[in-house]
Amino acid sequence: MINQKAGSVVFQNVRKTFGAFTAIADLSLTIEPGTLVTLLGPSGCGKTTTLRMLAGLEHPSAGKILIGGKDVTMLPANERDVSMVFQSYALFPHMNARDNVAYGLESSGLSRKEAREKAEEGLALVGLAGMGHRLPAELSGGQQQRVAVARALVLEPQVLLLDEPLSNLDARLRRKVRTDIRQLQQRLGFTAVYVTHDQDEALAVSDRIIVMKDGEIAQSGAPRDLYEAPASAFIADFMGEANVIPCEVVGIDGGDAEIRIGSFRHRVPAGAATPGAASLAVRPGAIALSEGRGQGLAGRILHSAYLGDHVEYEVETDVGTLFIVDHAVDRILPVASDTTLGFRSRGIALISA
Ligand SMILES: Nc1ncnc2c1ncn2[C@@H]1O[C@H](COP(=O)(O)OP(=O)(O)OP(=O)(O)O)[C@@H](O)[C@H]1O
Ligand SMILES: [Mg+2]
Repeated sequence: MINQKAGSVVFQNVRKTFGAFTAIADLSLTIEPGTLVTLLGPSGCGKTTTLRMLAGLEHPSAGKILIGGKDVTMLPANERDVSMVFQSYALFPHMNARDNVAYGLESSGLSRKEAREKAEEGLALVGLAGMGHRLPAELSGGQQQRVAVARALVLEPQVLLLDEPLSNLDARLRRKVRTDIRQLQQRLGFTAVYVTHDQDEALAVSDRIIVMKDGEIAQSGAPRDLYEAPASAFIADFMGEANVIPCEVVGIDGGDAEIRIGSFRHRVPAGAATPGAASLAVRPGAIALSEGRGQGLAGRILHSAYLGDHVEYEVETDVGTLFIVDHAVDRILPVASDTTLGFRSRGIALISA
């Protein structure tokens, strides 16, 4: 019987240097038990380094790491109650799937019989019942990935670590395996720290996303908060595309801010905005286009591309060239024609200038 535990994770002022290079300056975070938290950020921002410190494969230069309330900062990897799914699966090629999963269990002292029984159970959990006799080479990429997840899960760690677990899979399989991992995590209730640089993947699987930039937390929150209320142009652009438009907050009225973009005025939720120069992050789908000149921001169509269920436009305006996604595919606005832009109520956020 696989008995999943769920531990919390705490980083307190963790610092990591490699020689003269500071990869992580001062990182503090808390991960609640039973949640799936994603570390998301561009290449080199410190995601893998953070995960490796949690696994005990690297040690912090300063600060503390707690797992399940216990200080593990200097504990070696094999004395920590975590297991890691590596990007490359790292399955033993000469062992069948069941023995790959059983290997860690036998090393931790289970009899061969018990280890094999539990391995079969682990394989069933990831949808591979009856496939235990196959060698890794006899399994698809997605199936190998699931063997790697089973191998980590049967160890019943307090925290499961996944480093870009889907990067070797094609787009369709990525969607399937990420759903499988998320459903398993919710069903068994374990804590998971999931590293990716793909924002769609992060939005799809996470309870909470921590966006990192240059070894620091740029913003963290629920997927919807990060997408709908980005705190900076970096987050707005990293969490899906956004047009960043300079504007001026001319007044705050209750929860609304009145903004001016050139000669065009508009009201948006104020958030933490203060009067003065600011920027507006506008999703490509949050702009409505109408034909000809009217009330709103004036524009001219520079380019359009038909993509089946939507049309992509580049539109020249006084505040720069904007990228717009329009679902009105039966009416494609001609290049060089005049258009008027209006903002929809969702997908627009004020960010500091
Ligand atoms: N052993 C090491 N020695 C020196 N520098 C290192 C070492 N490991 C990582 N770094 C540096 O630390 C920074 C963070 O690396 P890390 O591997 O954590 O990035 P990452 O966010 O996982 O990136 P990617 O998305 O490309 O995997 C990088 O600038 C990297 O070059
Ligand atoms: Mg990495």
